[in-house]
Order: sequence, then structure tokens, then C-alpha cells
Amino acid sequence: MKRMLSGIKPTGRVTLGNYIGAIKPFVSYQDEYEMFIFIANLHSMTIYQEPKELRQNTRDLIALYIAAGLDPEKVTLFLQSDVLEHAQLGWYLGCMVSMGELSRMTQYKDKASKNEVIGAGIFNYPSLMNADILMYDPDYVPVGEDQKQHVELCRDVAERFNSRYSETFKIPEPLIAKVGGRIMDLQNPTKKMSKSDENGKGTIYILDDINVSKKKIKSAVTDSDGHIHYDPENKPGISNLLEIYSILSNRSIEDIEKQYDGKGYGEFKTDLAEVVGNELEKIQARYKEITTGSYLDDVLEAGAAKARPIARKKLSKVERKIGITIKK
Ligand code: TYM
Repeated sequence: MKRMLSGIKPTGRVTLGNYIGAIKPFVSYQDEYEMFIFIANLHSMTIYQEPKELRQNTRDLIALYIAAGLDPEKVTLFLQSDVLEHAQLGWYLGCMVSMGELSRMTQYKDKASKNEVIGAGIFNYPSLMNADILMYDPDYVPVGEDQKQHVELCRDVAERFNSRYSETFKIPEPLIAKVGGRIMDLQNPTKKMSKSDENGKGTIYILDDINVSKKKIKSAVTDSDGHIHYDPENKPGISNLLEIYSILSNRSIEDIEKQYDGKGYGEFKTDLAEVVGNELEKIQARYKEITTGSYLDDVLEAGAAKARPIARKKLSKVERKIGITIKK
């Protein structure tokens, strides 16, 4: 069985972009791949998190993975901070990447260009992500479009390590869906839908009130041409809605275009609002069931117990190769 690994940061509330770009694909892969899915809570520290909110967002994220259909019996689900080896391997790998490479990362450049004081963690963030990935030798890393650059850097660092110290890490492939890899903001469809949307109108949160999320779809920005057609360059708003529709209804974009040929945006948006509302309703119902009692803690404990021995073994191998281990 081929192996997959991916993670999501528990910063802010989980969005429809995270769901379509990451969580839903994870669910679809779980029967065919051996999967390691984790909560990147160490990564969340790169930006200040109010501790109470971080705790809640972390619990919500693990619950949403399961509510969306991930089965903890099949998938190794764990908290990054429960496997201490990640931070240690992150340190070694951070010593094997150049400042130039790190400063070319778009995510860092965006933050640095905002003229705010930023912590060093945001700069070295990809090294920890490299450790998360290389620790488990995955064949594939399913991510949204915005993380592709990080996975490519990870491949470079793994190759560098392997050629310097001999074969140690498998070179992972990023896996990005052709449709849904970059869900856009509903109010500004040239910008990615993000957890940190200022007024929240352009972002659907998975735990949003159903009526609120329907309203957001109905008031999504489109264009004045009135034709339901997929053309991300010239019709970013409608194209984004078509992608959301296609993924959530498991239908092709062409099929949906045909259904709405000659019909108006109003009807299309009303139907899509129903599709989104139904999907969220299902997830929210399951979310309510699993957030009571100690179920989530048990899942995390079992997940960490499966991940730790693999991480321990890989870190020992690395430490032997680089000369940190002194025992012969
Ligand atoms: P994060 O938490 O920003 O996002 C989690 C996942 O959701 C995807 N995503 C989107 N996909 C489509 N449309 C959107 N609008 C959208 N917004 C977010 C992201 O691409 C990502 O797949 N660095 C990672 C977390 C991480 C990780 C890893 C991922 C840490 N270690 C190792 C993979 C492997 C991050 O910040 O994702």
C-alpha cells in the first residue's frame, strides 16, 4: 500500500477551502492508501494564538476530520506536538536549507511584506514541515495549491540529505487536485479563501450556521455576463462556485454547465446554497456526536502511539548518519 501524509494548522476556524482542498480528498484516499494525518499545532505557533482559542480550534479540527468521514481505525490521526521527534528532525533539516531558499517561500514573503514584526518561526516554518513529511516516508503529500512550493522545497532538501549522507528519505510527490486545489474568497475571487478573512463574508466556515453559509453563497461576487461557464481567468467568481458545486455534488463541471445552460445566476446560486447547506449539515450533526466524552482524546492517544515508533526509528537513523549518535 502506498503511503500518504498531510496536516492542517489549527489556526482559526476550518474553512470550506480546507475541506475541499484537503479534508475531503483525505477521506476519499483512506481506503486505498496508508494515511498519516495530523494537526500541525506546532506550526500554529508561528502567529500568536489566544491559548483558549487554540485549544478549541485544535479540538474542532480533529473532530471535523472525523465528522467529515476520516476513520481513525484506518488512518493514523495525531497531534504534531505529541510526537516530539518532529521538532528535533526539524532542527537538523533547518541546518540543511539555505536562508535564500527559505526567503523565496511565498507564504514567508507575504507575511514579511506586511511590515509587521514577525517571529523567526515563520521563516523556518518549512523545515518543520519537511520533518513532518520526511519522518514517515510518504509517497504522496495531498495539499492545496498554496502548499506546493513547500513540498517542492521538501523534495530538494531530502535529495540533498540523501546525497550527502546516503539514501535516508523517500522523495515525496505533492498531490494537488485539478479541481478544488484553490478555492477562492467568495467576495474577492482573485484571492484564496482563507481562515484569516477580515470580515468573514468571503469565507465559509464548516461550523458556520447553515443559513449564514447559504447567504454567503447567495451573495458571492460573480460578473455581469450572465453565462454559467468555467473560465477561471475571465470569470473567477462563477468558476469558483462551479468548482465548489462540482466537488460537493461529485459531478463534472461540464455536466453542471449543461444543467444551467440558459439559466440565471440566481437559480444556480440558490441550488448551490442547498448543496453546501446539506454537506455542512451532515458534518455538523456528526461533529456534535463526537465532541462529547473522551472519544477525541482516545483517538489522539492511539494515533500518537502508532506514529511515535516510526518517528523514533527515523530520527535514530538520521542521528546515526549525521554523527550525532556516538555509540558504535
Ligand atoms: P493550512 O493549515 O494553511 O491548510 C491546510 C490544507 O488546506 C489547504 N487549503 C486550501 N485548499 C484549497 N483552497 C483553499 N482556499 C485552501 N486553503 C487552505 C492547504 O493547501 C493545505 O493542504 N503548512 C501546512 C500544514 C502542514 C503540512 C505539513 C501539510 C504542516 N506540515 C506536512 C502537509 C504536510 C498549512 O499551513 O496548511
